[in-house]
Amino acid sequence: MTSTSESPPDRYAVAGNPVAHSQSPFIHAAFAAQCGHALQYERLLCPLDAFLPTIQAFAASGAKGCNVTVPFKFEAFAASRRRSPRAELAGAVNTLRFDEQGWWGDNTDGLGLLRDIEGNAQFPLKGLRVLLLGAGGAAAGVLGSLMVAKPAELVVANRSVAKAEALVQSHQAWAQAQHVRLQACALETLPDGAFDVVVNGTSASLSGAGLPVQDHVLRKGGLGVDMMYGPSAQGFLDWTRQQGGQARDGVGMLVEQAAEAFQLWRGLRPDTGPVLHALRARLSTPG
Ligand code: ATR
Repeated sequence: MTSTSESPPDRYAVAGNPVAHSQSPFIHAAFAAQCGHALQYERLLCPLDAFLPTIQAFAASGAKGCNVTVPFKFEAFAASRRRSPRAELAGAVNTLRFDEQGWWGDNTDGLGLLRDIEGNAQFPLKGLRVLLLGAGGAAAGVLGSLMVAKPAELVVANRSVAKAEALVQSHQAWAQAQHVRLQACALETLPDGAFDVVVNGTSASLSGAGLPVQDHVLRKGGLGVDMMYGPSAQGFLDWTRQQGGQARDGVGMLVEQAAEAFQLWRGLRPDTGPVLHALRARLSTPG
């Protein structure tokens, strides 16, 4: 799989709109260097109405695959000829591999989040009460994988309760197979008792709205994870600390989901620790 001196490096990209902010080129360059693979990884800005032709042209130019970010994960799902079970469950694809027999679609977001929580943060979810805030694309991408860790209970709470109900409905068979109590509710009508883990999968902070969660929802010593990072995650992280919890932004998830994509393309999983460390240093450096 590694390119030889005679063959040009394999090419990949992150496709999205916007995409200029994406840290994926940095992450994949670091993985490639670590594994001794020669590859090129670029940003692919897709016009909002032309995701598919842009990706088709990229694949036709000889590229091997791409990551897909907002707002195209549903279009990438539709464009995949074959998909992993976790992508089927999420209804969204964040990683495409351009196989000759048809594009393979996967979703590595959920496993990335799980590896960050259980591996990097050392917070095993088995038997715990977990609250997932939001029922949009971000939440849908991680719900199935969170249940693999077998929390006792998983509550999906959303501003529009009907969307939470639909998401729970589509995951109910999987929840039963994992022996997880899965339920939906509105943000204002959470079940009694504090949660061990609260995952923020809403985009409330982007519109400058207040926190999508009330005080005392997270138990002291619990874990609060925002799937975003940078200023967008700050409000939720501050809230988590005020509750006496351990706060985690989405940088770890970003690196872990990238490692899963790298493995899908290149056949080996890089060591994420040093890359996460380097990315945090890069993000804390102004400019
Ligand atoms: P993404 O791909 O980031 O998940 P999305 O699919 O538009 O984007 O979903 C955004 C999520 O954030 C939804 O769960 C949305 O709630 P609704 O389904 O009720 O729209 C949630 N969200 C956005 N703004 C919010 C706010 N001000 N308060 C609470 N939830 C909010």
